[in-house]
Amino acid sequence: MTTNSANKEIKRIGVLTGGGDCPGLNAVIRAVYRAAHRLHGWEVLGIANGFEGLIDLERSPGRGNRWLSQEIVRGILPRGGTILGASNRANPFSYVNSTGAAEHAATTDVSDKVVENIRHLGLDALVCIGGDGTMVIAQQLAQKGVDLVGIPKTIDNDLSATDYTFGFNTAVQTAVDAIDKLHTTAESHERVIFIEVMGRNTGWIALHAGIAGGADVILLPEIPYCTEAICAHIARRRAQGTPFAIVVVAEGARAEGGAESYLPEQELGRARRLGGAAERVAAAVSSKIGLEHRVTVLGHLQRGGPPNPFDRLLATRFGTTAVDLLSRRQFGHMVCFHHRSCIAVPIAEAVSRVNLVDPREELILSGRAIGTSFGSRDELTS
Ligand code: F6P
Repeated sequence: MTTNSANKEIKRIGVLTGGGDCPGLNAVIRAVYRAAHRLHGWEVLGIANGFEGLIDLERSPGRGNRWLSQEIVRGILPRGGTILGASNRANPFSYVNSTGAAEHAATTDVSDKVVENIRHLGLDALVCIGGDGTMVIAQQLAQKGVDLVGIPKTIDNDLSATDYTFGFNTAVQTAVDAIDKLHTTAESHERVIFIEVMGRNTGWIALHAGIAGGADVILLPEIPYCTEAICAHIARRRAQGTPFAIVVVAEGARAEGGAESYLPEQELGRARRLGGAAERVAAAVSSKIGLEHRVTVLGHLQRGGPPNPFDRLLATRFGTTAVDLLSRRQFGHMVCFHHRSCIAVPIAEAVSRVNLVDPREELILSGRAIGTSFGSRDELTS
């Protein structure tokens, strides 16, 4: 069983994908299965729908837990999504077990049941693949004696312990493809096109996709924007003979002194969802400039599709490193990528800090050097 049993040999492990999906999850599952099976002869249970598959063993929500095999993982390397299913509501420490309005959601701590179910399934250790939410749960389970390791995933790239999470690079590529396409139509119609990209708390996708896509203005959560600075930048471009513009807006972007934009409805057991940031800045800017505008929200397009080669490599390395950590009984650690190597950090340390974009970041300075606006007030005087 998984309760930090000092020298118990590992024979069976479970792997789960928690939180939202992202490109590269299947590549990790494949790598975990192959390395565990080939190098150690372990059996690998694919746990359905994040922690949900450990909460109620009777209920098979859509798909059930299943032992992985070479046949099951064959061909999944390039596939987007996760063959195991994912859930960003199945938190064993705060499990939503009622229906109704979000504000009336009743939650229960079912973590003892999860520990019991892990024992019942005969699992000696777990590989938990997920973002910050999943890592916090994994850390709490580790404190309850579950032997596990974590693998970071998120398109947002917001985990500070790792230089990159897999999924981010593919999401940036998707956003750049979209920006390239929107560029040509913006130019044809002499419009300002506002493109909203994901990035709940951080602007990594907006920054990388914006610079790589040649955006004129990039708005990040880390640099609250000044509407006048955006208008002045677009007006300057126009005066210089370029009557169109591309504005990339992170979904968490906000005006100076303002708050983020949220969708009106809230889902049961979930934090409020961001939405409307690009519409809001478009409304504020378009009333002041004499150009037509359009808004495109890329949304979940950025989470889907095949992982690109960078993410396939990172995902494979993360999967094999996680198996290596288990074999060395380095439990309670998360795999991370630092200075071109895969290493491990304690999960507690990994979740202690969000990886925010530093406004003095080299890529921002580079953007400023080539004339990109970040919508900041100081641009009005510089
Ligand atoms: O955390 C990744 C992320 O893609 C965020 O950028 C976004 O706000 C969120 O997931 C949306 O998640 P969902 O719609 O699945 O709840």
